[in-house]
Formats: sequence, structure tokens, C-alpha cells
Amino acid sequence: MASLPTTTSGYRIDLTAGSFDGLRLDETIPVPELGARDVLITLQAVSLNYRDIAMPLRLYPAYTKEDVVPCSDGSGIVLAVGSEVKALKAGDKVCPTFFQDFEDGYATKESRATSLGGLNDGVLRKHAVFNEKGLIKLPDFLSAQEASTLPCAALTAWNALFGVEGRALKPGHWVLTQGSGGVSLFALLFAKALGANVVATTGEKSKEERLKDLGADLVINYRENPTWGLTAKEHIEKQGGTGAQHVIEVGGETTMEQSLKAVAPEGLISIIGFLGGGMGERKTGFWDCFASACLVRGVLVGSKKQFRDMLSFMEEKGVRPVVDEKVFTFEKAREAYEYLQAQKFFGKVVITIPE
Ligand SMILES: NC(=O)c1ccc[n+]([C@@H]2O[C@H](COP(=O)([O-])OP(=O)(O)OC[C@H]3O[C@@H](n4cnc5c(N)ncnc54)[C@H](OP(=O)(O)O)[C@@H]3O)[C@@H](O)[C@H]2O)c1
Repeated sequence: MASLPTTTSGYRIDLTAGSFDGLRLDETIPVPELGARDVLITLQAVSLNYRDIAMPLRLYPAYTKEDVVPCSDGSGIVLAVGSEVKALKAGDKVCPTFFQDFEDGYATKESRATSLGGLNDGVLRKHAVFNEKGLIKLPDFLSAQEASTLPCAALTAWNALFGVEGRALKPGHWVLTQGSGGVSLFALLFAKALGANVVATTGEKSKEERLKDLGADLVINYRENPTWGLTAKEHIEKQGGTGAQHVIEVGGETTMEQSLKAVAPEGLISIIGFLGGGMGERKTGFWDCFASACLVRGVLVGSKKQFRDMLSFMEEKGVRPVVDEKVFTFEKAREAYEYLQAQKFFGKVVITIPE
């Protein structure tokens, strides 16, 4: 076997910059020797999440390691495995999981401490070593670019829709998605593949038709219609429903008020993101939840078991991730960050990594 790399190139974030100037290429990132349960992979594609731009901009509300290798979502090929690895072999297509040690059940303090691209070095590099527990083998139907979109964005949407026993999405249910970002588009794709109905919002006229093309039953422009939650509820009631059984809450404090207007009695609001900023600006809380008679649940990505379930569902239903038409090369990673920040994309923003 050819000798394995001892160093690799990848990006790091200098957090003190407070801007994308903090992204710097490091050509000498050490590649550790393989332990018995370790797997060396060659990364082929990385996709960006809002979290990845929030970190260098110092907008991320959780601790970030100084000089971290960014990004949680990527896919690659196994280059070599440690002596005790049985489930993977050289040449297998894999994704590192967002939480490196979270097989099933509820996220614990310990499993949460194993997240990639913030607390621990992530995937925006050419090679990386992971414990076999932190890798998932991919089916053949997904390209490397498509697979790179799954570990955080897709799994979060999956967990929101299917993660609570007794509240899993069913055919005929209504889902409300906010904006056309990564998590929301996956929620739309999964819901339509199951035979559920979707009200999608967007702030961009040009994206309205594209959301309809993906199957959205109603699209509301949240900039033109600030009471979009109420409009969604009225529409669902006209169709004989009682409101949205699932709300994909990615806006945060600024959108929660309308989410509570849209949700069905006993429906589930999945609190996922903070895209709208304005932390603490609008206070929705106790009485609003009480009056809406709904369930409100914070979602933290998902487990490896949920990842496997999601892959089976995608294969069975033919669900393919939407990748934006503009794909960036490794050298142009900063441009990809700027492109995501400008929010003109439709589908996941992907960076390809050459061999
Ligand atoms: N809790 C978790 O486990 C978890 C996991 C993944 C993501 N997140 C969080 O969830 C949020 C979404 O992440 P993402 O990666 O999917 O984001 P993203 O792909 O960057 O989404 C950006 C899009 O969101 C829409 N948007 C922006 N501001 C909005 C607002 N005020 N109201 C409604 N839509 C708005 C816009 O869509 P239009 O252009 O169509 O308007 C924008 O293009 C982020 O806050 C992220 O940190 C949390």
C-alpha cells in the first residue's frame, strides 16, 4: 500500500478576525497515525450550513474552539482502516456524523461534546481520521456532493419531522417551513415524499416558483406578508385542517410569534435556528405556548440511527438533495462562505475537494 499522508491541507478559523478574513489555509495539518478503530478518509465534498458562516462572524451562540477546522458536513472515501475496523474498508463512500459519538436515543452532555466543526476539528480539509463510530457508510445512489449535504442539514430536518414518538409526520399532515435554506428544503423534500402537505415561506420572489416546483402546496412571501403564520393557518383550515402539525422553526425569536399562530392544537414546533437574529427582541413564551396548546421542542441535529433511517427513506422514496447550481472549488472556499451569507442560493452550497 502507498504510504499514508502525515499532513494535509485544510482551512482553520482565526476567530479574533470576526470576519471571513479569519479563514486561512493551513497546508500542514497533522494527520495522526491510525489507531485500531480509526479510519482515514479522503474528503471529496463539503457543504456549508448557516452555522459555518456564523462562527467566523462571531454570531454563533455556542463555544467555538480557537483555530478550529470548520464545517460539519462532508463526504469522502475511505483510504485506510485500523486493524480492528470491520464495518468499513478502503474505497467505501462515507460521511462523518455531526456528533461523532451518538448512536441512538437522546443527545447527552457527552455526545454533544463530540460535534464537528466548532468544538472539534471539522471536515474542510483534504484528509481526516475519525473513529469508525463517527462514520456512516453511504448507499451508491448519492453522489459525493449530494451526500455532503446530509450530516447536519438533512438530519436536523429528519429529526424534527420524525424524532418524537407519537408525533412523527404522517401522510396528509401539514408542515410549515420557513425560508428556503438547507434545513427547510430538506423538510419540504421529506414531507412531500411521504405524502404530507407543505406551506413554505420565502423572502425572495425568485424562489417562490422553485419552492412550488419542489412540491410546496402554498408559498408565502414573509417580507410581503408579515402575518404569514396566520395566513398559513387560514389556508390549512380552508383545506379542512386545523393548522400545521409540524413547524420547522429556523428563524428564532423573530419568527416564533407567527409559528405559534400557524401550529395546530397538539402540533409540534421544532426550535432549530436563529436566522432572524434579534435574540431577546420579541418575547414569545409561556402564555403563547399555552394559548396555542402545542408542543415546543428544541432539536439538536440527530443520532447515527436516525441518519441510517433517513438514508433508507431517501433510497426508498428516491429523495435527492438539492445542490445549488454554483459549486465552489476548495481554493475558493471563502467565496462559498460569502455566497451563503448573501442568501441568493437555492439548494445546498457545496465545496469540492480535489484529490
Ligand atoms: N438545532 C440544530 O440542530 C440545527 C441544525 C441545523 C441548522 N440549525 C440552525 O437553523 C438555521 C437554519 O440553518 P440552515 O443551515 O438551513 O440555514 P441556511 O441554509 O443558511 O438558510 C438561509 C435561508 O434562510 C432563510 N431565512 C433567512 N432569514 C430568515 C427569516 N428571518 N425568516 C425565515 N427565513 C429566513 C432565507 O431563505 P429565503 O431566501 O428563501 O428567504 C435564507 O436564504 C440556522 O440558524 C442554523 O444555525 C440548527
